[in-house]
Amino acid sequence: MTGAALDDALLAEVRGQLVGGAPADDAQLHAALRGSGRVLGSTALADLTRRARAELYGAGPLQPLLDDPEVTDVLVNSPAEVWVDRGAGLERVPLHLGSPAQVRALAVRLAAAGGQRLDDASPLVDARLPDGTRLHAAIAPVCESGAVISLRVLRSRAFTLDELVDSGGLHRCWAPVLRRLVTERANMLVSGGTGTGKTTLLAALLSLVPGHERIVCVEEARELVPDHPHVVPLTARRPNVEGAGAVDLADLVRNALRMRPDRIVLGECRGAEVREVLMALNTGHDGGLATIHANAAAVVPARLEALAALAGMPREAVAAQAAGALDVVLHLRRSGRVRYLAEIGVVRRDARGELVVDPVATWDREQDPVYGAGWDAFVDRWGGA
Ligand SMILES: Nc1ncnc2c1ncn2[C@@H]1O[C@H](COP(=O)(O)OP(=O)(O)OP(=O)(O)O)[C@@H](O)[C@H]1O
Ligand SMILES: [Mg+2]
Repeated sequence: MTGAALDDALLAEVRGQLVGGAPADDAQLHAALRGSGRVLGSTALADLTRRARAELYGAGPLQPLLDDPEVTDVLVNSPAEVWVDRGAGLERVPLHLGSPAQVRALAVRLAAAGGQRLDDASPLVDARLPDGTRLHAAIAPVCESGAVISLRVLRSRAFTLDELVDSGGLHRCWAPVLRRLVTERANMLVSGGTGTGKTTLLAALLSLVPGHERIVCVEEARELVPDHPHVVPLTARRPNVEGAGAVDLADLVRNALRMRPDRIVLGECRGAEVREVLMALNTGHDGGLATIHANAAAVVPARLEALAALAGMPREAVAAQAAGALDVVLHLRRSGRVRYLAEIGVVRRDARGELVVDPVATWDREQDPVYGAGWDAFVDRWGGA
């Protein structure tokens, strides 16, 4: 025999031969595979080593998809339905992951690799894998197909503004504007639909923060890796089996305030913690940044109101707090392969006291940016291009 299938029995044998928690190197994996007595040929050995590594420490059969440099998302809906985003939107890949139980086992193992539990009592997980990939997984009873797995590949390094300009994601004239907004300590909200590059732009902005400033980043699962020497990452924690020990984003924002932050950052505003953030930014903490899911800059006020309502804040109070707390909204859009900054808006209250985001500059990538009535005042306040 020159090769062997990487079946469950062989994997179990290899697992049994490996000691310690740290991932084995290739030599150790070779030895364990040879030790099984079932692998002889060196070609088969190299192939099995790669697949065993993916099974033991990586994303198993999904690992080759994640290793493709073009791929940003890998989505598993059921064993026979796997999708990837290679930059041009979702495409289905001809990959079969076996039985629903095998997909569930993969989800459980990935969650464990991200330090989280995934089982009947706790069927949803949001985690970060050791290589930085963001994992979301749901298993029965929440979904019927065994498991639904969503993986987001993260870049190991934040984009610079020049790279964003070169890739078509940022109009050349707006790079200096963003630099000014960061150094002048504007409180900013990065908005956009799902996967439009909000976290990516946020990391790029944080990389512009002067090195002597201390940034405290509050996130659900760690994603932000700005190029900055002084970042304190705080991540939320789910309750344990007894329902104790939960630390939510609102707790973390409150605590971040006591950690002598120069900048408070909330990776994504998606619940009641918006109240804490608005309060923090209203009480002298400027230069704060957060992202929010919104399909247009104009609906950001309604999103803020809806999230703040979860924290029991009436509309009127949200408008007053948000107008005081937030200066600028940077809205992203995606068109095919390109994710780009489409709008710069300012936050204010209108004559009726309603919260509004006024577009001061918009860009559709086809033509030069269009500047609105508020642009001159914006430049007076923050400095222009
Ligand atoms: N300007 C860009 N050029 C190339 N790739 C990008 C760009 N912006 C984002 N990406 C890639 O697109 C993917 C989605 O980006 P990101 O995670 O920033 O989006 P998001 O809006 O925060 O998504 P979510 O709604 O899931 O929070 C990532 O893999 C990221 O590396
Ligand atoms: Mg994001």
